[in-house]
Amino acid sequence: MLKITAMARILTGIQSTGVPHLGNLLGAIIPTINISLEKNNEMFAFIADMHSLTSIKEGDTIRENTYSVAATWLAFGVDIEKNVFYRQSDVTEAVELSWYLSCFMPFSRLQLANSFKDKSKKTDDVNSGLFSYPVLMAADILLYDAEVVPVGKDQKQHLEFTRDLADRINHQYGKILTKPEISLNNKTMYIPGVDGQKMSKSYGNTINIFDSDKNLRKSIMGIRTDNFSLEEPKTPDSCIVFQLYALLASEEQKKELATKYINGNFGYGHAKQLLFELICEKYGEERELYSELMRNKVILDEKLEIGAEKAKIIAKNTINRVRNVMGY
Ligand code: ADP
Ligand code: TRP
Repeated sequence: MLKITAMARILTGIQSTGVPHLGNLLGAIIPTINISLEKNNEMFAFIADMHSLTSIKEGDTIRENTYSVAATWLAFGVDIEKNVFYRQSDVTEAVELSWYLSCFMPFSRLQLANSFKDKSKKTDDVNSGLFSYPVLMAADILLYDAEVVPVGKDQKQHLEFTRDLADRINHQYGKILTKPEISLNNKTMYIPGVDGQKMSKSYGNTINIFDSDKNLRKSIMGIRTDNFSLEEPKTPDSCIVFQLYALLASEEQKKELATKYINGNFGYGHAKQLLFELICEKYGEERELYSELMRNKVILDEKLEIGAEKAKIIAKNTINRVRNVMGY
């Protein structure tokens, strides 16, 4: 990742396609919240609920997913005083900017978007929103003068489009947009799902820590293991249960469990039970807070509104700058 030294405005967009799972938490949400807590950073984090419409058409689902993502970030301690945490659809200036940008985006370049090629192969709903997705994403970023955008490899091309659009607009009208830096998360560490593949909603192999104890335990008990008998010694590092445990445990707990594996007379059922207990213990407070927030959506709305108010001030400022030079 790019080392962020001076005060930087970091921006991140969060997909709202379901309840965040353990892979999302460990791979994206917790590290991002940690970056935002650093004194020098100012983070804009928004739930990209308008992008969701490219694939989800049921309003209730979009609304519920947004709440679920918001509750997760809040439960894991995103600081909404220091940062700007909002819902994309609450600040519609992004849609206006998206139109202006689209008139500068060469059609032929947009056709090269890898994510569109991938996604359009997997769905019958190949709508033009899916095609212009990267332009709305560029608007999300340029609207807030973001300086650094942390992304995974899959989003890098979208950031290149964004930087190119900033250049095109600035070339035409003088420097009115901030060209963001890409902070590429090259870590290939993927959290494994219950079947050993990368944990992902699309593989149906996720662990949802916000589920009831009963369901959480059930999904952990379903983690794939090999056929060694209870008595036989086992190899910790090649076991998915151990890998997940190691991501959450202290060094001491990790060593203890590794010894149990190596000594034998310790079954995978025992290991799974320890993983379940560790999750409950480590994330007990967050799970409770999440449920409480999901039962009180008014509070979620209020918290998101605080972010939207702050975001709108900056968004309006950028839009005015753009409208002015474009002759509107
Ligand atoms: P999914 O694959 O479940 O649809 P998303 O594509 O919505 O997940 O991912 C949202 C964020 O969570 C991204 O930043 C992505 O890199 C991260 N993420 C998702 N799954 C994992 C995983 N198994 N390990 C690490 N990070 C992950
Ligand atoms: N496209 C991003 C994803 O799939 C989500 C997103 C939307 C985003 N707008 C953004 C990410 C702006 C960073 C900046 O994960």
